[in-house]
Amino acid sequence: MKRNRERFFGFSIIGFLLFFLTIGLTSTCSIFVYYLVGKSTNNNVWIVGISVLVTIIIGAVICAGLDIIRRKHMIEKPVKMILNATQKIASGDFSVKLTPLHEYSKYTEYDLIFENINIMTKELSKNEMLKNDFVSNVSHEIKTPLSIIQNYAKILQDKELTKNKKQEYLNGLITQTKKLADLISNILKLNKLENQQTVPEVEQFDLAELLRVTTLNYENLLEKKHLELECDIDEVSIVSSASLLEIVLNNLISNAIKFTDAGGKIAISLKQTKTHAIINITDTGCGISQEVGEHIFDKFYQGDTSRSTEGNGLGLALVKKVIDLIGGEISVKSKVGVGSTFTLKLNKG
Ligand SMILES: Nc1ncnc2c1ncn2[C@@H]1O[C@H](COP(=O)(O)OP(=O)(O)O)[C@@H](O)[C@H]1O
Ligand SMILES: [Mg+2]
Repeated sequence: MKRNRERFFGFSIIGFLLFFLTIGLTSTCSIFVYYLVGKSTNNNVWIVGISVLVTIIIGAVICAGLDIIRRKHMIEKPVKMILNATQKIASGDFSVKLTPLHEYSKYTEYDLIFENINIMTKELSKNEMLKNDFVSNVSHEIKTPLSIIQNYAKILQDKELTKNKKQEYLNGLITQTKKLADLISNILKLNKLENQQTVPEVEQFDLAELLRVTTLNYENLLEKKHLELECDIDEVSIVSSASLLEIVLNNLISNAIKFTDAGGKIAISLKQTKTHAIINITDTGCGISQEVGEHIFDKFYQGDTSRSTEGNGLGLALVKKVIDLIGGEISVKSKVGVGSTFTLKLNKG
């Protein structure tokens, strides 16, 4: 607004100058004509009539000339630039950048349109890059299990394979198909969340019960890895989406188990304040370095390459999207080689 006022003020100074210039030029011509006509005739009506007529014509010509120059400079030039830019954008070239014609304090509406076009192209190229990254990540994630499946299927055609070997390859097939199914299910969930197609079904529910049931699902896995489990769960009931929170808890608990070596410990706690429910999921796993920590919520990011065969780097991206949607915060404290604590702070109602 301020910019517009300044611009308007600037414009009116130029306007006034042009106005007085026109008046000055026209008056000079008028006096000159009056003088010339007065020399050749004594008829006052003629002198005044011709002078007025010539004055009007000269005034109109000067005004039209000035208007043409003004239009060329102030309207046609930026309109042409906008036209060229929008034509390039329409044909898919998002590298377009328009330089405003005036300095910031003297911005016209055209300069503001230029800036908006620059913001638009920046957003479009960012989206294009994200889309390309997404497609190449998905293709990569699909290609790996698919080629393993193809390989195992070929080996399984061998009739001389022992029963044990056969079972081993069949297990491999099952693992890889599950990985593909998980990947597709995660992509669909993420897509739904990103396109705001997921409307959280909010209800009052027992968060302690949900946390206990979700943890129990990992009982076998915990036993298999000889992981100690410590639970300190207070009775807390909240108004939120139980099904979306289940996705969050599943991802955090499965990560804690996945990134902790056999013999380690997982601690899960639920506490409450007046307004929030606080869940802590702590493990004595490999920990997260600061560099890795900056990316763990990015799609397809996997920090620990030694365990990258499990999962697809979408878990924490999903968790973050869900938390943003249902209202809350997620934070991580971690030390490499010591372990990590993921803390969820959820609005109670
Ligand atoms: N509890 C944890 N301990 C150590 N690293 C973790 C933990 N949870 C997540 N990470 C790091 O964050 C990355 C992203 O996690 P996630 O999105 O769940 O992907 P994924 O489990 O498929 O690797 C992991 O690859 C890992 O590097
Ligand atoms: Mg994960």
